Amino acid sequence: MERVCNVALIGQQFMGRAHSNAYLKVAKFFDVPLTPVLHTVAARDQEGVERFAQRWGWQQATTRWREIADNDAINLVDVCTPNDVHAEQSIAMLEAGKHVACEKPLADTLEHARAMKAAAAKAKGKTFVWFNYRRCPAVALAYQLVREGRIGRLYHVRASYLQSWGGPDTPLVWRFEKKRAGSGAHGDLNAHIIDLARFLTGDQITEVTGGIAETFIKERVKPGSKSGERGRSDVDDCVVFLARFKQGAVASFEATRLATGHQNANYIELNGSAGALRWNFEDMNLLWFYDNQEDARTAGWRRIMCTSGGHHPYADAWWPDAHIIGYEHGFVNMTADILRVLGGQQPLLPLPDFADAYETQRVLEAALLAAKHRSAVKMSEVK
Ligand SMILES: NC(=O)c1ccc[n+]([C@@H]2O[C@H](COP(=O)([O-])OP(=O)(O)OC[C@H]3O[C@@H](n4cnc5c(N)ncnc54)[C@H](O)[C@@H]3O)[C@@H](O)[C@H]2O)c1
Repeated sequence: MERVCNVALIGQQFMGRAHSNAYLKVAKFFDVPLTPVLHTVAARDQEGVERFAQRWGWQQATTRWREIADNDAINLVDVCTPNDVHAEQSIAMLEAGKHVACEKPLADTLEHARAMKAAAAKAKGKTFVWFNYRRCPAVALAYQLVREGRIGRLYHVRASYLQSWGGPDTPLVWRFEKKRAGSGAHGDLNAHIIDLARFLTGDQITEVTGGIAETFIKERVKPGSKSGERGRSDVDDCVVFLARFKQGAVASFEATRLATGHQNANYIELNGSAGALRWNFEDMNLLWFYDNQEDARTAGWRRIMCTSGGHHPYADAWWPDAHIIGYEHGFVNMTADILRVLGGQQPLLPLPDFADAYETQRVLEAALLAAKHRSAVKMSEVK
């Protein structure tokens, strides 16, 4: 008999679409031990959530997300809401015995993140956090190459996540409100590259040695306001910080929504004694590898198209070599691993849970403290 996983989704816009697509596609492309069923979707606007349910094939739609906790049929709850409600919703679902997959950053504040970690530690259900970029095949290959010693001793991590949509004409959506988002580009974008750096290196940050958090645009038009009423944009537009890893590497991180000329340049580079790796999401199928063992006459950056079934992670599930994949496939790949874990199997690569994402949240906090106090912050000071 087919084993199923009844899923409930909270939030139905950007991530709601990306995740719905993943649940619809995953069992078509992967042999997963459980087939997801799109059971219930919850969001705030009745008409919108009903339309969404119909379009994407969710069986039920509601504006009362708490009903999901009482529904014994639901196995996995997927939290795709603004950051300030991640804790309340995830904890309620964990207490009801559900598995929870929550969007990143884990929470708006470190305090909320800590409560989520504690709830996860007590819960029967498993937790996952949607750091989806881990599951781009090129990133997954980088993870494997690092573990095979192909870059040797690590000296540098250089990570930046550059976007440009946050100019003065962008309205005051929740992402610019501290009480809803917690932080701006920092929690949104630095969260991803801190996770990538921790994931790829397998190492932990021990100190943030300095940081700058800047809000360039302090007021924005309220969404939907005909009279042009303005409100305070009180999150960072950019955060830049420097850090040290336990095993000695030094790192730089930069996240901004005002990097004119860049749309979604999620970039990471590792430089080691034996080689180097670099990846940019805007060319997500490519991994660049520099083999420092090569003959100096022919050494150079190697462009690896990470689409070869049988060789590259997740590539088997998709298309013939160099028939490239895109943004949404990272979510499908991650959903396959979540279903493997829930079905009692191993994921292809480690999945971030609440405890893991809490460590990323601590680094976010340390960077903000370093910027605020203009001083170094040891991670041991950030609990
Ligand atoms: N993994 C990624 O790459 C990625 C990309 C974008 C966003 N995100 C994260 O996903 C989350 C959602 O972001 P988004 O871009 O989808 O936002 P969005 O604004 O597009 O959608 C938010 C949804 O949440 C619903 N919602 C808001 N408050 C609610 C509440 N109290 N109860 C129930 N529903 C509520 C809204 O109705 C809407 O459907 C955020 O945490 C964000 O950081 C992650």
